[in-house]
Amino acid sequence: MQVLVTGGLGYIGSHTSVLLLEKGYNLVIVDDLSNSNEKVLKNINKITGKNPIFEKIDLKNKNSVSKLFKNYDFDGIIHFAAHKSVNESVNDPEKYFKNNIGSLENIISEIKLLKKPMNFIFSSSCTVYGQADSMPINESFELKKAESPYGQSKKKCEEILETHHKSGHSFKNITLRYFNPIGAHPTGLIGELPIGTPENLVPYITQTAIGKRDYLTVFGNDYNTKDGTCIRDYIHIMDLAHAHICCLERLMKVDEDNFFRVYNVGSGKGTSVLELINLFENVNQIKLNYRIGNRRNGDIVNAYADASKIKNELNWSTKYSLENALKTAWSWQLNIN
Ligand code: UD1
Repeated sequence: MQVLVTGGLGYIGSHTSVLLLEKGYNLVIVDDLSNSNEKVLKNINKITGKNPIFEKIDLKNKNSVSKLFKNYDFDGIIHFAAHKSVNESVNDPEKYFKNNIGSLENIISEIKLLKKPMNFIFSSSCTVYGQADSMPINESFELKKAESPYGQSKKKCEEILETHHKSGHSFKNITLRYFNPIGAHPTGLIGELPIGTPENLVPYITQTAIGKRDYLTVFGNDYNTKDGTCIRDYIHIMDLAHAHICCLERLMKVDEDNFFRVYNVGSGKGTSVLELINLFENVNQIKLNYRIGNRRNGDIVNAYADASKIKNELNWSTKYSLENALKTAWSWQLNIN
């Protein structure tokens, strides 16, 4: 079975690639290295002992995508490749629309030329729900207006996929809406590699703990939550990676030519920023320098998943704890320093 993993050297893509290789899939990893590097490929090899094919391709380029599909015969595609910085997307929306939407369109055009229904998994985000009216969030919740061009690009991609499904095109698609992935591979050889100043909480915590940042700012403690700080659903990267394996295995067994599902992937548990900081300090026996600051523009107060659909339909469940996610995030930070 040959699987195309776009963005396969990125954070979620690299962990998923490891699990796929361990399951015996042959991989073609495509990455433009805009937010990753080839060292990740070496480390994937170190962990698995396998050498996946690697192609440095910009998926915005239609000709490159056509060539890719001419050169290989894929049995499945997991499409991770996308820009993901909320801040950057506000400053340069064009970049996000061109890349995130353009790449998906190029891939779909190629899939349409194939003689078989393609097994296709798309990376979406809980950002499509905006601030939901109640918790936990299930897949039937209304999708609110996206707060950022990044969020808009994910919403648009979901719409494109649904349109293809409704047009009756031969296409087997699962879209996963990720909550907040954190942590690293147990070996500490792969993890999240933020370029520049991290925007996300856990890389900011680990970089502060190691002394790369002076202090962490907690964005507001006057929200209407248990301790005044925002609530998120932190999901271990290994559990999230495993969700993709469950999806691929499901898609491979589906008989219908036009199959379409959307699943949340989260732990189902809401954790506040202060709870996460305290847990990080406890499990790693480190004192973190943090201050309470202003609210961050556009932040969502509360978001955690009802993940029962993926549990019931695909038999997926979380195996790793939040403690383990924070331990491995720290080991990873120590390794890359
Ligand atoms: C958001 C999106 C997520 C998307 C991600 C891309 C939602 C609910 N989530 O993540 O889908 O994939 O952007 O980057 O829309 N915080 C601090 N100090 C910091 C950094 C963060 O207090 O220095 C707080 C934030 O206010 C938030 C929590 O930590 O409450 C998590 O923030 P972050 O890691 O940036 O993720 P989201 O904003 O949830």
